Amino acid sequence: MSQRKVIAITGAASGIGLATARLLASRGASVSLADIQADPLSAVVSSIQKSTPKAHVYHKVINVANPNEVASWLDETVKQLGGLHGAANLAGVLGALGVKKISEMDDKEWDFVMDVNLRGVFNCIRAELQRMGEGSSIVSAASVAGLKGYPKSAAYSTSKHGVVGLTKCAALEEGYRNIKGQLHRARPHRYAYDKQGSFGDLVHR
Ligand SMILES: NC(=O)c1ccc[n+]([C@@H]2O[C@H](COP(=O)([O-])OP(=O)(O)OC[C@H]3O[C@@H](n4cnc5c(N)ncnc54)[C@H](O)[C@@H]3O)[C@@H](O)[C@H]2O)c1
Repeated sequence: MSQRKVIAITGAASGIGLATARLLASRGASVSLADIQADPLSAVVSSIQKSTPKAHVYHKVINVANPNEVASWLDETVKQLGGLHGAANLAGVLGALGVKKISEMDDKEWDFVMDVNLRGVFNCIRAELQRMGEGSSIVSAASVAGLKGYPKSAAYSTSKHGVVGLTKCAALEEGYRNIKGQLHRARPHRYAYDKQGSFGDLVHR
């Protein structure tokens, strides 16, 4: 990277978020890492600082379901790292995936998954769009379950369908600013919506 880009990543304490944070820091991006798990997040920061001593890393423990926590993390990101050029919204939960049918689910199980996976991604996309300039890019974690239904996965699958819908709408609303909305499904599948993808059609990359 010729100029340091600032990339905000949720779910950075584990899995895909952690791998994304390591990779982007190693390529010279400034990374702002957020997760609900404090100790694992601190461990990720230490390991990036060890492997990439010149990396610029800011981190904060947040619950993505809380809009105020998301907004203040991103405000601090802009202040500490000098801008916001990209975001990877990767925090997510499975809930009781594969365990219960719709007829057996209680409100708490439904709300937990929807609050993190859908409300959380909405909170992030909204706050990111408010702080990003032209040519920025947002990747959000969907899933094959965001394109198809599966038995005993209603909350997870519905939340991921919602992420697909949010990303379609954001791409159509913000395409004029050349802000790209993308979906991570699972390696090696990656999809992007853009303003040429008429009314949010999937464009395979
Ligand atoms: N791993 C896969 O094969 C796969 C496939 C399709 C989609 N996905 C999606 O990709 C994303 C990342 O998956 P992963 O396998 O890396 O999961 P993971 O469980 O390893 O990581 C998810 C991270 O999100 C954090 N998190 C959970 N709730 C949070 C909250 N309320 N606020 C802030 N952080 C929170 C967790 O602490 C964890 O560090 C998820 O959204 C998942 O649904 C994963």
